[in-house]
Amino acid sequence: MSDPFDIFPNSYKIDFLKEVSRLNFNHSRKLALILFYLNFYFLYSDYCNYREGLWLPGSISGYAVLFYLHAFLGLMMLVFLSFTYLTRRKPQKNRIHFQNLLGIFFPLFTVLYSACVSINDQRIHGQISVFILGSFLIAINNYLNPKLSILIHSLSWLAFISGVTYYQPNIDILKGHYINGTILVIFSVYLSIILYRMKRNDFISRKTIEQKNYEVEAFNNDLIEVNNRLEESLQALDESQNVIFTLASALESKDTYTRGHSERVAEYSLQIAQKLSLSLHEQQTIWQAAQLHDIGKIGIPDAILNKAGKLSEDEWTVMKSHPGMGENICSTLSFACEFLPLIRHHHERFDGTGYPDGLRGEEIPFLARIIAVADAVDAITSKRSYRPSETLESALEELTRGKGSQFDPKIVEVFIESLQLCS
Ligand SMILES: [Fe+2]
Repeated sequence: MSDPFDIFPNSYKIDFLKEVSRLNFNHSRKLALILFYLNFYFLYSDYCNYREGLWLPGSISGYAVLFYLHAFLGLMMLVFLSFTYLTRRKPQKNRIHFQNLLGIFFPLFTVLYSACVSINDQRIHGQISVFILGSFLIAINNYLNPKLSILIHSLSWLAFISGVTYYQPNIDILKGHYINGTILVIFSVYLSIILYRMKRNDFISRKTIEQKNYEVEAFNNDLIEVNNRLEESLQALDESQNVIFTLASALESKDTYTRGHSERVAEYSLQIAQKLSLSLHEQQTIWQAAQLHDIGKIGIPDAILNKAGKLSEDEWTVMKSHPGMGENICSTLSFACEFLPLIRHHHERFDGTGYPDGLRGEEIPFLARIIAVADAVDAITSKRSYRPSETLESALEELTRGKGSQFDPKIVEVFIESLQLCS
């Protein structure tokens, strides 16, 4: 049979043996104390026997031997208790060694002593009750490992069988003692082994729980560390987002005419997204994309960006590069990867005449079509260097005119509906 401690480190087995040794020592000390005090009653009983003249028949009668046995028991318990007292004062390392020895000596002495008393009892009343009592007491009181238990009980059985054979003249009673004594010893060993195994299993359960608790604690610590790293990463992500949004707003501050443009385009886009009942995730995506849709203008020279008059063909070509540049700027940002196509395609037209890729209809990402509408509304209603601001009504007229050519007609209708609801 495999050792149940095999799944644990060697130290666990040593810990178990130490615990058993300590328990055996403490249990033996308590039982020794009880026997020591109980012995005074035995001695008094011997004195009464003496007064009644029971010691007289024979040269050394059974009652006289009983007295000597009790006196010996009292003396041995006194010596044993003295040793236990001295053991407590020993250094830790030696103490364990002595505790172990006393924990073995006491059960051996007790079972042999009870066998001797029962042997002597054959000369008085022929009973074996003390042998029975002693064997059971030790099986219950001490955690003896199976080999030690078999050894100790076998020795007491041999002593008992030899002694009763010598002192019990009645063959029928002797046969009864053989049978009862043997059954008793087998039962005591069996009981002792069961209790020892229960103790061992209890110890293993405790250690398993301790180990699991330790593993759970270690896992929790790992989890806390991962959470901390995640929080740091999120914080870093927030910081990188803040940098790019600050950059976008810094770009707009260069030109008083476009100040707040991205913010307003984001609000119009969100208004349309909510009217279309898009998911919260899509609403968040369109909000961020609209904030950054013109970030590419950072690479457009100020002379072109702020030119009061009409742009030349070359200048217009440069200006049309801003969606692609915006896409490039944001392509290294992990949080922006989802809305890069929205930045690139916010100037596509529904009829395919937009830029930079000339996508048409549903080829244009849906959210980019929303931003295109929002962008146009804010561009028309804002003052520019080359023209004054126009009213919202004019903007709506232009949107209506551009339905199907510049803008997705469905989105224009939704936007107009949303404005009617607000008014
Ligand atoms: Fe733009």
